[in-house]
Amino acid sequence: MSGLVGAPIDRVDGRLKVTGAATYSAEVQVPGLVYGVMVLSTVASGSVARVDADAARKAPGVIEVMTSANAPRVDTKGTGGGDRTLMALQDDTVRYDRQPVAVVVADTFERAVDAASLVRVRYVRAPAATSFEREPDYQPQSALGADRHKGDAQAALAQAAVKIDQTYVVPAEHHNPMEPHATVAHWEGDRLTVYDATQGIMQARRKLAAAFGVPETNVRVISKFIGGGFGGKGSLWPHAVLAAMAAKLVDRPVKIVLSRPQMFGSVGFRPHTMQRVALGAARDGRLTSIIHQSSAQTSVFDEFIAGTGMLSTVLYGTPNLLVTHRLRKLNAATPTFMRAPGEACGSFALESAMDELAYATGIDPVQLRLINDTNTDAEGRPFSSRSLRECLRVAAERFGWSRRDPRPASMRDGRLLVGLGMAAATYPTHRSAAAALVQVRADGSVVVRSSGVDIGTGAYTVFTQVAAEQLGLPVERVTMELGDSTYPNAPNAGGSQLTASAGSAIKLAALDARAKLLALAGGNAALLRGGPEAIAALVQRAGVAAVEGTSDAKPGEEQKTFAQHAFGAQFVEVRVDADLGTVRVVRFVNAFACGRILNEKTAKSQYLGGAVWGIGMALLEHTRFDERSGRIMNANLAEYLVPVNADVPAVESIIVPEDDPHVNELGVKGIGEIGIVGAAAAVANAVYHATGKRVRDLPITPEKLLA
Ligand code: MOS
Repeated sequence: MSGLVGAPIDRVDGRLKVTGAATYSAEVQVPGLVYGVMVLSTVASGSVARVDADAARKAPGVIEVMTSANAPRVDTKGTGGGDRTLMALQDDTVRYDRQPVAVVVADTFERAVDAASLVRVRYVRAPAATSFEREPDYQPQSALGADRHKGDAQAALAQAAVKIDQTYVVPAEHHNPMEPHATVAHWEGDRLTVYDATQGIMQARRKLAAAFGVPETNVRVISKFIGGGFGGKGSLWPHAVLAAMAAKLVDRPVKIVLSRPQMFGSVGFRPHTMQRVALGAARDGRLTSIIHQSSAQTSVFDEFIAGTGMLSTVLYGTPNLLVTHRLRKLNAATPTFMRAPGEACGSFALESAMDELAYATGIDPVQLRLINDTNTDAEGRPFSSRSLRECLRVAAERFGWSRRDPRPASMRDGRLLVGLGMAAATYPTHRSAAAALVQVRADGSVVVRSSGVDIGTGAYTVFTQVAAEQLGLPVERVTMELGDSTYPNAPNAGGSQLTASAGSAIKLAALDARAKLLALAGGNAALLRGGPEAIAALVQRAGVAAVEGTSDAKPGEEQKTFAQHAFGAQFVEVRVDADLGTVRVVRFVNAFACGRILNEKTAKSQYLGGAVWGIGMALLEHTRFDERSGRIMNANLAEYLVPVNADVPAVESIIVPEDDPHVNELGVKGIGEIGIVGAAAAVANAVYHATGKRVRDLPITPEKLLA
């Protein structure tokens, strides 16, 4: 794995997954397990007047119906830092559609589902804030809520030779990973074991301990396999606490698995976001002003804010800049992270506006981005590395951008309109503190432990590669163990930070183990190069079961002195049927520079996923709230559309090698989220090129093109 692009080895957990041997949270069995099914509210605002659970209680197999009347008391406020108030039957107030109002516990899942359908809930309705357009903006007091100013963006815009000033809308979208949320909670005295589909088991442990008022060491959270997280599993949600509450109430282990419609309930979503982007430029295309102002929905009881405009401080150079974030409170569940929470939305606005500026100045869209490339971010910090130019160059060449006739509606394929569009992408390189344990055992095998979770990205595989490389052993000798809160600390697998964080910790722990082996070898490094047998002999001679390497890896000063971001370029070709308004993406070429790549195959798999989701964001995904009731109208996969194979062409991803000596010990930048950044804008820009119609509110549905 030396060099900047690591070997494309197969997933080390691939066989377990395809044979069904990988156990997901919903599949966990413990002795005496019973099944909880939530009953969700059917109003968006008001209170529960009465829960009639008599019929449910008499139904076969029912053990208990938990309501606010008999629910154990818990601390619902969480413990700060992106926490969500847990709507866990502590009172009768209802603040959003699909808020849990009862949990039926029965001896089988089917009986619990049946009994839940018998629960009758009477509500007192209250007025609900259901219209984004009608609610006022407020400025959040959090760090992300602070306005960013550089120069005088308004004055520079007023004086600019060329101006673009438009509003872009990204609707609410819901996560639909293949694996639904699921929790198994098991009390033994005041000790709690929870199997949870979560991106962050240490966070889950901390919040569960706080909720039940027990020490964190009394709580064990296990999450061995995750069938997709995407930010939706990045918080502790009510069902997990409800499972533990129900387990306490009935004194049995309880499992709660969400149905697909319940995935549109209290587990977060991408907020509806409206953005104004105004660009001022000289006639030569050089930006003189960027204004990026966003308003997004949050709930009436919690604040969620995504850094929608933050990429405007990074992607292009400008002497004048204004970035603001505002929120509007609605009676809906609290939104949450969804793949590139800020950048996915923000890039649709900024990169659509850049395309509009390209047309207004008559400058080629790729050229316009090259003209405005920058060596520093808006705070004047140099980038630890930045390969936007190279990404644009190689992707444009591979895509055949030079064949594009820039005039809208000028290219045809028979009766179909042909559109070629592009966008730039960026995503920040995050890192948090993490520890790791590397055990080199007397049989020459290696066990590596981290409490990080593999949310399907390939963490088991790339961490195995990191440890094997540092120890000079074949990957087959290394067993990676993840997803248990008894293992060394790791942050959430979110913000594309787990590899930079836990991966660096594993590298340092492996180096520590290697140093100890070297000491056992009397400083004779040649002995360490003798393969597994030689290393086994060293451990045996020491008379220990294993030589252990540990680490405590933290971000340092480089986080302040450098702007750290990955960059990329997205190129899309579409066919538009002008009579039907249908859009097909027929080609997708992207290039990303994300520092060192640990495994070419798993990396490209992330870029592919980002492209698929970008196509969904551009053309299909849209959670529809009924403004009369505040209820979600399409909470199922029949009416909430996601791309299927037929919607996705072959996606070609180019890895631009990048040597970054500053970011972290591994030289890696996160790759999980950048794949969606710019994708929707590239599709929208291609649709404009094909049709001459600029759609500024996603998704680009046929009726918008026929209008
Ligand atoms: Mo990501 S949206 O932080 O899983």
